Amino acid sequence: MNAKTNAALEALKYVKNGQTIGLGTGSTAAIFIDLLAKKVKNEHLLIKCIPTSLSSKALAYQKGLVLMEPEEVSTIDVAIDGADCMDSKKNLIKGGGGAHTREKIIDYFAEKFIVIADETKFSKILKGPVPLELLPFAYPFVAKAIKKEFGIKTELRRRENGDVWKSDNGNFIADAYFKQIKNPKKLEEQLNAIPGIVENGIFSRNVSTVIIGYEKKVKVLN
Ligand code: A5P
Repeated sequence: MNAKTNAALEALKYVKNGQTIGLGTGSTAAIFIDLLAKKVKNEHLLIKCIPTSLSSKALAYQKGLVLMEPEEVSTIDVAIDGADCMDSKKNLIKGGGGAHTREKIIDYFAEKFIVIADETKFSKILKGPVPLELLPFAYPFVAKAIKKEFGIKTELRRRENGDVWKSDNGNFIADAYFKQIKNPKKLEEQLNAIPGIVENGIFSRNVSTVIIGYEKKVKVLN
């Protein structure tokens, strides 16, 4: 837990009074949201936030942060978000929590996108699976298209009771079982070109800084 907290603490240094902040999703982002709320309160800052999921929205609301709706946002100064896997070139896989579509909208729109993650997420080459958000109608077709193009299986995420898991947008989430991803930019584009895929979990653009948290230190990749 220290490693995640250390990364989140370091990210706080990038937040300045008056900014609009994009709030990521996941356990590391949740630590950041908590720390940000404390900083805003202690330093009497004027900070507005746009969350990337309903869970982050609920947490930020509970912590007393000021929230915006998409139509109220003109600029996002900094987005701070977690990752499931990241490489030295600052490519990411996200969507372990199924929130990658809203995350990508906010993270790619932001002036600065800062990734916070513990050291276990770092890998020389990006490793799958790659989360996909799909229109429910499209699932069987997408699974067949991925099998044909890449020779791998795609599996729908389900709840413990067997029901299909739904995203905040009411879509299905599936995982495509890629092993190593040698060309993230190309794969990000190829996946989104398959009709019915709303968004995939490869993030190959716009990452300004990666903060890797360790037990007693952080490493910052700019
Ligand atoms: C949510 O869909 C994901 O993209 C998260 O950002 C990612 O899974 C990181 O989560 P943790 O910080 O919990 O590892």
